Amino acid sequence: MGPSRNHRVGVIGGDGIGPEVLAEALKVIEASGVDLDLVEYDLGGARYLRDGTILPDEILEEWRDLDAILLGAVGHPDVAPGVIERGLLLKMRFGLDLYVNQRPFVMPPDLDMVVIRENTEGTYAGEGGFLRKGTAHEIATQGSVNTRFGVERCVRYAFELAAGRARRHLTLVHKTNVLNFSGDLWQRVFDEVAEDHPGVETTYNHVDAACIHFVESPERYDVIVTDNLFGDILTDLGGAISGGIGLAASANLNPDRTGPSMFEPVHGSAPDIAGTGRANPTAAVLSAALMLEFLGEADAAERIRKACTGSGQMGGTTSEIGDTIAAKV
Ligand code: NAI
Ligand code: MG
Repeated sequence: MGPSRNHRVGVIGGDGIGPEVLAEALKVIEASGVDLDLVEYDLGGARYLRDGTILPDEILEEWRDLDAILLGAVGHPDVAPGVIERGLLLKMRFGLDLYVNQRPFVMPPDLDMVVIRENTEGTYAGEGGFLRKGTAHEIATQGSVNTRFGVERCVRYAFELAAGRARRHLTLVHKTNVLNFSGDLWQRVFDEVAEDHPGVETTYNHVDAACIHFVESPERYDVIVTDNLFGDILTDLGGAISGGIGLAASANLNPDRTGPSMFEPVHGSAPDIAGTGRANPTAAVLSAALMLEFLGEADAAERIRKACTGSGQMGGTTSEIGDTIAAKV
């Protein structure tokens, strides 16, 4: 046997607080004893403003050989909305087929849920357009793309995840009473896949009702599976009810491992607090833990998760919180 190969990880600090929280995540990984070969990429709104680069195809190709990507946050106040989101984040999700967006929300003693958001289709697929733009008769459409293939692989992932957890409970969240085409497809696929998983208890919630339950009794949930848009909104709410957006981590997974998966905090670049040292790095640290777990470093991941306990209440600057977590790992 040759020497074991280090994990090759692409690192994108990005904009605003992105590089600040990412530095702490790397500090904590180092403290955990896991060796990574890091490849840094200067991408995001600031890079775009400097030379027009968003995500060149050559870089996307280069990423296919990585084991994972860790991202801080991207988004710059001087860049029009959508440019970086579509050109970098969505291009990465679609190009690397990161079809599952997994977001855990844990708050002892009662709350322990995971939201599985479909990550490549729905209203985010870019279907639609303008007619007569800028006139009084302007029309804008934004279709929701739901393929049998795309829905089924996401739903299957959610069932498999639920089957491996203690409660073995899965909730489909949609809006089937109004979205009678896409919702119908989701519900049928969900019911079919459920037959392959008799050990998983299932239920269904409309997304608006789920918002009430998130606030009033989130402990009812174990695993949730939902579409791209509902999942985006619901997971921000999930962050808000489980200690704040500074703690919410996420994984953009290619479960078939035909390429790297990408790990990032749920929050954005927070230009309002960038450079002040007030950003909580815990979401980035917990995203790094998700990455290590996916790379087979379950022990280090668990130690990092434990070290983050109570970090919502930790005082101090971004780097002081990072130091405290690193010392406990
Ligand atoms: P945001 O998540 O950056 O900030 C929302 C609020 O939460 C702000 O008040 C911010 O100060 C606070 N906050 C965020 N992260 C925090 C942390 N770690 N510790 C303490 N407080 C924190 O969302 P916003 O303001 O809507 O977006 C700012 C920029 O980020 C935009 O350009 C947006 O497009 C981009 N964005 C990027 C994402 C990504 O890189 N995946 C995700 C969401 C937004
Ligand atoms: Mg969001």
